[in-house]
Amino acid sequence: MTTTKQTALKELPSDLRRDRLPQHVAVIMDGNGRWATRRGLPRSVGHRQGVETLKQLLRCCDDWGIQALTAYAFSTENWTRPLEEVEFLMTLFERVLRQELDEMVREDVRIRFVGRLTDLPKNLQSMIENAMSATRHNQGIQFTIAKNYGGRQELVQACQAIAQKVQQGDLNTADIDEAVVAEHLYTAGTCDPDLLIRTSGEMRLSNFLLWQTAYAELYIADTLWPDFDRAEFHRALFSYQQRDRRFGGLKR
Ligand code: IPE
Ligand code: IPE
Ligand code: MG
Repeated sequence: MTTTKQTALKELPSDLRRDRLPQHVAVIMDGNGRWATRRGLPRSVGHRQGVETLKQLLRCCDDWGIQALTAYAFSTENWTRPLEEVEFLMTLFERVLRQELDEMVREDVRIRFVGRLTDLPKNLQSMIENAMSATRHNQGIQFTIAKNYGGRQELVQACQAIAQKVQQGDLNTADIDEAVVAEHLYTAGTCDPDLLIRTSGEMRLSNFLLWQTAYAELYIADTLWPDFDRAEFHRALFSYQQRDRRFGGLKR
């Protein structure tokens, strides 16, 4: 690829408006298994290819000026898959973190993990802690990875934490409002996603960010995750920019 073409790719496509970009994009990366099966390959190849797609999307968000990207990597329900696949996914994750951390530190990415991390393998937990602390002071794009994440589980743990504060006399029941709930979610401190993309044509949330997506714009792509490239993302952003976000009010 020539340098000119590379530079052109980095620029926001001319039919997209910078002032109407989503601040925060969330993705349900679905379809890795089908992508591989259609090629007669083991599902693991699809997962590996899916990591490449995620790396490209992170770079694209950074190039085009999107401030936050959240990716659903493993749900609380994904433990029900065959042990071999679960173990492959955990190991793949460790490998990717090991290989990519230095570059993400250099590129000023702030990494965050959301989910019930204490149930993950111990090595992975310490790598996750290391990645978060190594990038804590970075000022660039916020990259959140949802790992062992379930929206309902997140709400349950928030209820428990809030109830405990009430029990200890640190919080009055009457003072529990939406802001208090949001502060007790794993995503505390991050703005809600403006755009939620799901690949592989499935039209469901699969327990992802149930609270935070209350007013997200939804975009379903038929493309399987490993094929979700810059052109596909461009289409999703273009669609987003055509929407009229009313938030329950009247047309702007
Ligand atoms: C998404 O791809 C990745 C994870 C859930 C870990 P899938 O593994 O769900 O792929 P399909 O949906 O079976 O094709
Ligand atoms: C959602 O995909 C979870 C992730 C992408 C990590 P799934 O493939 O697990 O969702 P379902 O089973 O189709 O709802
Ligand atoms: Mg799937």
